Parts: sequence; structure tokens; C-alpha cells
Amino acid sequence: TKKAITERIKDIDVVIELLDARLPGSSANPMLAQLTGQRKKLKVLNKQDLADPARTEAWLTWYREQTDTHAIGLDASDKTPAQRLIAACRELAPNRGGMDKPLRVLICGIPNVGKSTLLNTMVGKKAAKTGDEAGITRMEQRINLASDFYLFDTPGMLWPKIIVEKAGYHLAASGAVGRNAYDEEEVALELISSIKAHYGAQLVARYKLADEDTIPTRHDEELLTEVARKRGAVMSGGRVNLQKAAEIVLNDFRSGTIGRMTLETPEQFAIWQAEGEAAEAALKKKREARLNKRKEEQDEQD
Ligand code: G4P
Repeated sequence: TKKAITERIKDIDVVIELLDARLPGSSANPMLAQLTGQRKKLKVLNKQDLADPARTEAWLTWYREQTDTHAIGLDASDKTPAQRLIAACRELAPNRGGMDKPLRVLICGIPNVGKSTLLNTMVGKKAAKTGDEAGITRMEQRINLASDFYLFDTPGMLWPKIIVEKAGYHLAASGAVGRNAYDEEEVALELISSIKAHYGAQLVARYKLADEDTIPTRHDEELLTEVARKRGAVMSGGRVNLQKAAEIVLNDFRSGTIGRMTLETPEQFAIWQAEGEAAEAALKKKREARLNKRKEEQDEQD
């Protein structure tokens, strides 16, 4: 996918990055920024029906303040998403258009962000899908959303190393990461940790938890234990089944049954990112020092 994007990016005018509106920061692929460089960007906060509207607005404002960037919210209830995407891209690249200068747009996103759903809605309505065509690799598909608007699709892609710890948990909670790659109990506990301060009322409403006011300060494990008890996730001998409770919480979050919520604000994510980068830099420095020491020892022996 990386290779396909690197090849295609040369003649792309706008890059659409489909993000999960519940975790905009965590669902943004850091590799994409490197691959797409100075291209105009359209951030699409998808599945906004599952996200907290106030926080979606905050993220849209945050993105719109960045250079060459536009942002819109979207979800599958929009039956004509092509119109909004086309309008937003034309706004970003007003000098493109017409048969001799078609607007060429690349769409990227992590797995499960809703890209197939969106493309199917658009293809079903008015687009022509072009599969085997010269200059288009097997990794990508070109969809003509208008006679002068080409959309190049890329496969859903995660990145090799997630350095923002919270992002890993939020991606797992959203369903973007394969089930075998994480521990459900751990992810559910981190999810509770991310939502308890802001969405205590929803937790109380969904799981009939006691005393809403204390929720932000209670331990994550204590809250998951209460969910288990309230949901009858109890094993023989009366021990709670935290694994079962974790599955319940994760399923409720993914389906939105738990209520509309967004796990991160732009400001929070900026802090986590800075921490992740600092930790990564420290790790790199330590690794380099170790390698240098080993090399010196080797030189001395020689
Ligand atoms: P992908 O191509 O990016 O991997 O994602 P895909 O379209 O397959 O969507 C992943 C899941 O997200 C699907 O649910 C899909 O129905 C759901 N989805 C897509 N867009 C939206 C949206 O705007 N809002 C909400 N609430 N959900 C959305 P699924 O359970 O995996 O499959 P299914 O039940 O639809 O068959």
C-alpha cells in the first residue's frame, strides 16, 4: 500500500483521509503525512453518528486551522456523500476541473473506518468503477465520481509501530486492529479510563452503575467489575468474569449502544503524541548508545 501511494501521489491534487470521528487523532496514520507531503488534505471524520457532536466540532475546527486542509463530518446515513466530498475537494483545488484538468483525489483510511461502505454508497449512486485500466495498479481502484473527478482508492492500512500508547488502545477498542493482536480486558480497561471522566452519565445509564459523581475517580477495574456484576457476568463460585464484561463494553462501544462518545480531544492527543515521540526518541538514543558501546568493545578486541 505504501508503495502504491508513493507511486500514485505524484499526480494527486487532494488526499482524503478518512478518520474515525470517535478517535480522530489515533486513527490518523502518521506514515501518511510523510507520504503525502505538501498535498492538499481533506480530513473526513466518518461514523460521526457514533461520536460526541461537540468534540467532532472541536476536531473539525482544529483541522480547518491547518494550512491546505479542510475537514467535514460524515456518516453512512448520508445518502449522497459524493456531493459533499466533491464540493470540499473542489474548494481545496479550485484550479483543477474540466476534462483537460480532472481533479485527482486519493482516499486513504485505516481498516474498518467505513471506506468500503462509503465507496459502495457512491458507486451505487452515480460513479463508474474502473478496474483493469492502464496505469492503475492492482492495489488501487479508480472511481469516476464525475467526468472530471477521479477518486483513487487504497487498501485500509495501519502502520508498523504505534508510538502513542493511547492510540494503540483506542484503535483496538474501535475494531481497527485484528482480535488476536490485543487483550480484550486490557483494552476495555483503557477504554473505561478514557471515557469515565467525560461520559460517566452514559456509563450509569447503560450499566446501571451506582453513584455517577464518583465514576471519574473510581478505578477502571472496579468499574469493569461492577459492569460484570450488573450484567450477570459471574462464574461459578461468584467470581466475576472480567473477560465477558470486557467483551460487553467493547461491543457496546463499537455499536454505539453505550452512547455517542469521542475518546480524545485535539489538545489531549497533541500531548500524548509529544509524549510518544519523546519516549521513542529516548529509546532510539538508548539503542544507539548500546550499539556504539558494542562497536567500541569490538574495536578494542580487534
Ligand atoms: P472499511 O472498508 O474501512 O474496512 O470499513 P467498512 O466499510 O467495511 O465498515 C466497517 C464497519 O463500520 C461496518 O460494520 C459498517 O457497517 C460500519 N460503518 C461504516 N460506516 C459507518 C457509519 O458512518 N456509521 C456507523 N455507525 N457505522 C458505519 P460491520 O458491523 O463490520 O459490518 P455490517 O454490520 O455493516 O455488515
